[in-house]
Amino acid sequence: MTPIRTLAILAALGAATPALAEGDVAKGEKLFKKCKACHMIVNGDEVIFKGGKTGPNLYGVVGRAAASIEGFKYGKSLAAAGEAGLVWDEEQIAKYVTDPKAYLKEILDDGGAKSSMSFRLKKGGEDIAAYLASVSPAMAAAEGEATEEAVEEPKTETETTD
Ligand code: HEC
Repeated sequence: MTPIRTLAILAALGAATPALAEGDVAKGEKLFKKCKACHMIVNGDEVIFKGGKTGPNLYGVVGRAAASIEGFKYGKSLAAAGEAGLVWDEEQIAKYVTDPKAYLKEILDDGGAKSSMSFRLKKGGEDIAAYLASVSPAMAAAEGEATEEAVEEPKTETETTD
């Protein structure tokens, strides 16, 4: 991965479309029926949504680096996007599922980019993304961190040695 390509990706991500409409978790859960042929949502032994193995486990996908499930054979283009720093957030997932190949072409700035996911979701990308975020503990953790940062510990170095 050349630094130039990395920059191109970051630029593409930065110039993202205007804020998406808020997704509806319940609608997204219903829509996931379209994804389960290829994707499961499994946290260790806990099966959140039973599904196939053609695609990677989508538990915790929001906040996770793209193409980072070990042992899953990702396509070259998605792997390249992951190496270049793509981390899934709701907005990126909503765009990706609408047309994975076009999405990869755009963010990699590579007309020859390919996707191993042949499926396209015509409507409801935001809802699916909201649902996936609801099964992604990294999101909760990130929010926690943000609050911690805001509360700076006061320096108390007043030693009272009598
Ligand atoms: C026909 C099978 C199939 C269907 C249906 C399908 N996917 Fe996928 N999905 C895949 C495959 C295969 C990949 C890996 C793509 C690659 O390597 O290019 C993938 C990758 C993904 C990724 C990236 C995961 C990662 O670890 O980086 C997300 C997110 C995703 N799919 C979401 C969805 C959602 C949401 C739906 C339903 C709307 C869906 N997919 C439907 C096969 C499918």
